[in-house]
Amino acid sequence: MRATRTLPLAITMTLALTACGGSALSGEGGDGGGDDTVKIALLVPQSGVYAPLGKDMEAGFRLYLEENDDQLGGKDVELTVVDEGAGPEDGVPAGTKLAQDDSVDAVVGVVNSATALGLTDSFDEAKKPLIIANAGADAITGKESSEYVWRTSFANGEVGSAIGEHVAEEVGDGSVYLVGPDYAAGDEFLAGFKKSFEDAGGEVAGTQMTPFGKTTNFQPYLQKVRNADPDAVFAFYAGSEAVTFVQQYDKLGLHENIPFYATGFLTEGGALEAQGKSAEGIFTSLHYSSALDNETNTAFVEAYEAENDGPPTTYSVQAYDAGNVLDEALEEGTSGDDIVAGLQGTGEIDSPRGTWSFSDQQGPDQTYYLRKVAQQDGAWTNVVEGELTKPSS
Ligand code: BEZ
Repeated sequence: MRATRTLPLAITMTLALTACGGSALSGEGGDGGGDDTVKIALLVPQSGVYAPLGKDMEAGFRLYLEENDDQLGGKDVELTVVDEGAGPEDGVPAGTKLAQDDSVDAVVGVVNSATALGLTDSFDEAKKPLIIANAGADAITGKESSEYVWRTSFANGEVGSAIGEHVAEEVGDGSVYLVGPDYAAGDEFLAGFKKSFEDAGGEVAGTQMTPFGKTTNFQPYLQKVRNADPDAVFAFYAGSEAVTFVQQYDKLGLHENIPFYATGFLTEGGALEAQGKSAEGIFTSLHYSSALDNETNTAFVEAYEAENDGPPTTYSVQAYDAGNVLDEALEEGTSGDDIVAGLQGTGEIDSPRGTWSFSDQQGPDQTYYLRKVAQQDGAWTNVVEGELTKPSS
């Protein structure tokens, strides 16, 4: 949080903030909003299994604007919210349209890795900044990608890798079964975990990939997990798939007998609320928990809860931080190259997740935490147990 820009929380949004469910932009043509205005499009899912994540991201980005007088880099923000849809079949056309729309200065958002992978070339060609505030596909940012594509979230491989050594220590000579949705993010989370787990001496009992976005009955897959008789399970699911997976895992009696590890998306926000007791005791790795004990997070949680129904999530923080880095970058100007120059000059970010800075891969160099689901003050929470080994990327 840039302390110099933090204003009282109760400021109402008086400026040109627009929320439209479709992709219609009131563009004037030309090169964005001019000297005093900047046009930002927030591309987040409003449908499909990741719709709840999109809601949290929008709330996080709006909170940053509200705390900063609806300005970024001293310019009034004109915000448009565009639906990323359920997967790349919707998200890539919606994002490509924004890349090609001269009235938009920069785009923030994108939840799905497959969508993000399908968008990088369009933003590179348009020389327009795309600040990814969730999608973790390893190749999206960095040397192989575009100087216009930045990320305030994580790289998939890192989140899995961060907890691999810890699980290897916990299971000793035992084996772990891996489960996740069959698309880019599922593959990379499990691969990142497998590498650090096996490097630390762990053994993988088997892997199950489930059809993404359409699996509502996980029982046939869970039966295979049970038959393999592993000593622990490691999983990645998010949004509504995370709710169903955890509830069915518990219902089949697996939770009582097999220790459960996962990427933290499994038990984030609304998913954890819906899972309730069925998630108790799940250990996860992630770069944020609303229970993190630092001053910036305490203020952030209070401000977020004043505006929303529940505590913030990792998705909210990633979008809030996208506002923060854009705030600094836009001081350089509103052209794509100005914004990139500004992002390159960003130093340490004081974030609710703890301080972080951009690595030379254009994504966060940050701490990953070990979290455990438990009840705190009557609410299911990802209690922070400690920091995990820094993943190698
Ligand atoms: C992804 O597709 O990269 C992703 C989606 C949801 C949560 C985390 C990552």
